[in-house]
Amino acid sequence: MLIQNPIRFISAALFVVSAILNLPLYAQKAGKTDAIYSGLPWYDQNGKVVSAHGANIIKDKDKYYLFGEAHSDTSNAFVGFNCYSSKDLYNWKFESIALPVQASGKLGPNRVGERVKVMRNQKSGQYFMYMHVDTLGYKDQFVGYATSKNITGPYQFKGSILFNGKPIKKWDMGTFQDKDGTGYILTHGGVIHQLADDYKSIIAETNKQISSGFESPTLFRKGNTYYFIGSNLTSWEKNDNYYYTATALSGPWTSRGLLAPKDKLTWNSQSTFVLAIEGSKDTTYMYMGDRWSYPLQLSSATYVWQPITFSAGGISIPDYIQSWTVNTSTGEYASKKSDIKVIENTNKLIKYKGNWKHLSDSISTSRSATRGNAFSFTFKGIQIGLYSLSLPDNGYAAIILTDKKGKILVKNLVDTYTKLPSSTMVFLSPILPKDEYTLTVSVSGLKPNWSDKKKTNYGSTDYNISLDKLIIKE
Ligand code: GAL
Repeated sequence: MLIQNPIRFISAALFVVSAILNLPLYAQKAGKTDAIYSGLPWYDQNGKVVSAHGANIIKDKDKYYLFGEAHSDTSNAFVGFNCYSSKDLYNWKFESIALPVQASGKLGPNRVGERVKVMRNQKSGQYFMYMHVDTLGYKDQFVGYATSKNITGPYQFKGSILFNGKPIKKWDMGTFQDKDGTGYILTHGGVIHQLADDYKSIIAETNKQISSGFESPTLFRKGNTYYFIGSNLTSWEKNDNYYYTATALSGPWTSRGLLAPKDKLTWNSQSTFVLAIEGSKDTTYMYMGDRWSYPLQLSSATYVWQPITFSAGGISIPDYIQSWTVNTSTGEYASKKSDIKVIENTNKLIKYKGNWKHLSDSISTSRSATRGNAFSFTFKGIQIGLYSLSLPDNGYAAIILTDKKGKILVKNLVDTYTKLPSSTMVFLSPILPKDEYTLTVSVSGLKPNWSDKKKTNYGSTDYNISLDKLIIKE
């Protein structure tokens, strides 16, 4: 749905907040992850969920650094920008809160900080962090920046970046570093601003607005073509992102249509960055998108990272690759070979508690919206995953994974709502030592929903959980 004005959240149900506060999040140290899995909570080295949205990645020496918005489950107030590092792009180590909430001021308590991007200035060797700064009601937006000598921070917040002495009063933003090291700030609508050599101010408006929508601006270059991706304005609801191409940043920009098949809502995500994974044999261009989940943006918002396909017709993400591998030395990617066993929802070993409807329309599912109703499955193996038929009236599923002594290893809430139905993996445990475990999934009685400042409501209409199937690795 295309909405002409910026869509911003205003409220969320308070009972959700209090219910969540009672839940300890994680109690488990993560195992090694063997691929990029979209749409699932990821765990860092401490077993905590990776919270880095509106993100970007930069490579520094032999590591990739992921910067993104830290979130809470209670409000949209800025809680800092997190930094993680990885060598393989699968396992993320929490490094630091690269920019914490400031004691006061524009990124102090009860403010908004979004879409953080970091670039290294090649001349000074300093790291520059750019971000959208705002009030909680989105009434004081500008592009801010912070600097650090070390990639992981701490970054010093410098306030707004200036162009002719004035702030850039835009909300959604991004960055792009061209091959010659020149840095650019992108803002919604497709405006491109050139940074000064020292990255501390803006010296030119390289490109004027392309379209009135075009949020989450994401730009990358392959060869001599620039690709500019953005979303429609639907707050945290997903929509069909689209893109333009040009051979110069100043345009002209040619509209090239949708990035993913129509009505797939960009595989339920909103763009934020494209990482070029350059290797000895190939370069994989990895689309990075956010699958937002308001109000549980800490626990339940996830990442959609997919390889981009190039053809004469342009770029595309033609299929949702649930899991894929990328060799960071050669730059080549491949779909992950599946070595899993499927447990259908009708399997007699799944124990259902309470009333569940067992439906078989196009897909066989078991559904319930009654809080506390649950199903559980005990298995021997090293990993378990959950596929949900995600639907517009679905809510958050409460997941608990225990060992055979009943000790809780993972506890999490996962979002099973989508505006348009899709069967998708919503949870995958870390890889565990081979043993007996029990997965219990219950109806939490919570659902993602929110409204924007025009009081347009978004999100789910009910609390259903719909089990399509479980998968296990033995
Ligand atoms: C989106 C935007 C996000 C966030 C959200 C708030 O459109 O891309 O970064 O600002 O709105 O509603």
